[in-house]
Amino acid sequence: MTLLCSDCGAAASDDALFCAVCGGLLAFELGEPRIAGPALRSLLAARRLSNEHRDRSGVWRYRELLPALDPDRIVTLRENDVPLYGGCLGASYAGLDALSYLHLGMNPTGSFKDAGMTVALTHAAQNGARLAVCASTGNTAASMAAYAARAGVKAVVLVPSTGISESKVAQTLDYGATVLGIDGDFDAALATVRGLDPRRVAIVNSVNPYRIEGQKTAAFVLLEQRGWKVPDWFVLPGGNLGNTSAFGKGFREALALGLIDRLPRIAVIQAAGAAPFARLFAEGGEMIPVKAQTTATAIKIGAPASWKKALREVHSSDGTVIAVDDAAIADARAVIGRDGIGCEPASAASLAGVKALVAAGTVQPGDDVVLVLTGHVLKDTAYAASYHSSPARFANAIVHTRDQVDLLARIDELATARAGV
Ligand code: F0G
Repeated sequence: MTLLCSDCGAAASDDALFCAVCGGLLAFELGEPRIAGPALRSLLAARRLSNEHRDRSGVWRYRELLPALDPDRIVTLRENDVPLYGGCLGASYAGLDALSYLHLGMNPTGSFKDAGMTVALTHAAQNGARLAVCASTGNTAASMAAYAARAGVKAVVLVPSTGISESKVAQTLDYGATVLGIDGDFDAALATVRGLDPRRVAIVNSVNPYRIEGQKTAAFVLLEQRGWKVPDWFVLPGGNLGNTSAFGKGFREALALGLIDRLPRIAVIQAAGAAPFARLFAEGGEMIPVKAQTTATAIKIGAPASWKKALREVHSSDGTVIAVDDAAIADARAVIGRDGIGCEPASAASLAGVKALVAAGTVQPGDDVVLVLTGHVLKDTAYAASYHSSPARFANAIVHTRDQVDLLARIDELATARAGV
């Protein structure tokens, strides 16, 4: 695999984070793989029967398709071994015959970040890094902290000092990282981190190409679970847009490797108050950063770093980008909960988005649709508590009763009523 600039194509050195010629983001090019097609499919299927960590990990199982790292010294928590769930209520809510959720919140630290972090920290540790740093709205922080702890590398995270989930900060502290709260938003934190010297500290935001290599394997995990059957639409939330770049790359590589015969169309969903990419997609031109505002705090990002890569992926898949408002995200999140699954707010942008795309006629009711859930329901319990405590929903969430008889009557009533949303 070779490391190139994703904008101008210039060769790059392994200790750089940006192109020395044009400042663009770097990306690995797969080149001529050692194994492809049916032989690769069989190798992957055989590994699913193994008990070795590197085979059970839904990242390292695809190690032939990753940058060359010593497979005997990987930093893994058995990440990306995640389920694909059907979602009946979600489907009828969106106006679809059926849909499924790829739940990346079922990763070791509760978000999709683990798939990238296992590769980024393996690389950092094998390069002798002593300190890993990231800017974060919470999930990158928690994931980096866990993998850095496993690797014996110190971890420092920069987060906005207000407006992110406290559970994520607590989780990050639990893993032993130093948390620096900045007087600014995610974009300001990332600008600071981008100014650090990557030869002195391992910068593990998604501008790090090793992160993208790890995250692209979620595309393989999805396709493998579907017997390599390609969905019509693949829908995910977009913030800094590293994940869109990663999935797009994964699908393209699966096609080049003969594992699939076409690409799914990628739909990226942003929160309306943090939607510079949706505007750019609709109107063209360059990225114009915004001051982000949304209650889906994980995607409260106004200047997405990976927009150029992500735009190429959306276009090459004949995909789309739209924005949905916070109320739509809140309601969609509650529906996903009632499918018995649950997720954090940002993840639910995918269901709110597909509902809007069906209403607009972009997605057809009979289309084969996969939504990505990026974070676990327990990532933001304060948000859920606040949603259920609003007066209109309180009666549904908590039964007020003065005495035992009332309570039993209410339960009896519920037992005879039809189930439903
Ligand atoms: N969903 C969740 C739960 C996230 O935490 C993030 C990003 C996204 C979606 C968007 O992914 O940035 O690759 O487009 N969270 C980052 C963080 C920014 O710091 O945890 P993206």
